[in-house]
Amino acid sequence: MSLLKSADEIKILKQGGKILAGIIKKIAKAAKPGITTRELDELAERLILENGGAPSFKGYGEKNNPYPAALCTSVNEQIVHGVPGDYILKSGDIVGLDIGMRHPNANGLYTDMAVTVGVGKINEKAKKLIKVTRKALDVWLKNIKSGEDIIQISAKVQAYVEKEGFSVIRELVGHGVGHAVHEQPAIPNYFSPAFSFKLKEGMVLALEPMVSAGDFHILVQNDNWSVITRDHSLCAHFEHTVLVTENGCEVLTK
Ligand code: MF3
Ligand code: CO
Repeated sequence: MSLLKSADEIKILKQGGKILAGIIKKIAKAAKPGITTRELDELAERLILENGGAPSFKGYGEKNNPYPAALCTSVNEQIVHGVPGDYILKSGDIVGLDIGMRHPNANGLYTDMAVTVGVGKINEKAKKLIKVTRKALDVWLKNIKSGEDIIQISAKVQAYVEKEGFSVIRELVGHGVGHAVHEQPAIPNYFSPAFSFKLKEGMVLALEPMVSAGDFHILVQNDNWSVITRDHSLCAHFEHTVLVTENGCEVLTK
């Protein structure tokens, strides 16, 4: 299917993105000391269904290990795809909340969004990590436009993060989105010529910088989903679904 979205599809993606942004705000508010990550997932699924959507992460992946939840809850050294469970959030933790929804129209269209929030009182380093990761997403938003090559922006994102003393995760990337949870192109947050790809007006992208306070190498945990930093350093993740326009971009998940 074409990577370009029609005017009608863009309208639906905008509606969906707005709903998703409202939902994630509520989940972020609920991420207080004492709540389990499973309770956050239950809240996410309820809010998606109440809004007439479907959780797009649930059941995603290989048949023998489908993703089991509506929400990813990635705590501390977990980078992404943290599986919700019995873990009770405590003051000082940081938690990435990543949510995907399919929208109720004839074809079904997908949006994807993530934020990282502090739980209770967090230390200065965690605060800085969250801030830098959010700003790394801003670097994407400021530089995207029709005709631009992805890798030129990847280089800027990487340079910004490294200047702040952190590192970008390399083995996980952003992606096109809309007709499916994951579409072409792959969108790395570090410079690599192999990912060269020219953006066009009408493409919809999930931009998602993942930033480590230590080293960028990763490890997948025993559940075969949760991805952590190999050196167990703290990690943050922000994601928006974005429409590429002639002169810039429009954030759909806002
Ligand atoms: N935003 C994440 C991603 O693009 C979430 C995917 S979770 C999955 O990889 F279960 F759907 F894989
Ligand atoms: Co994504």
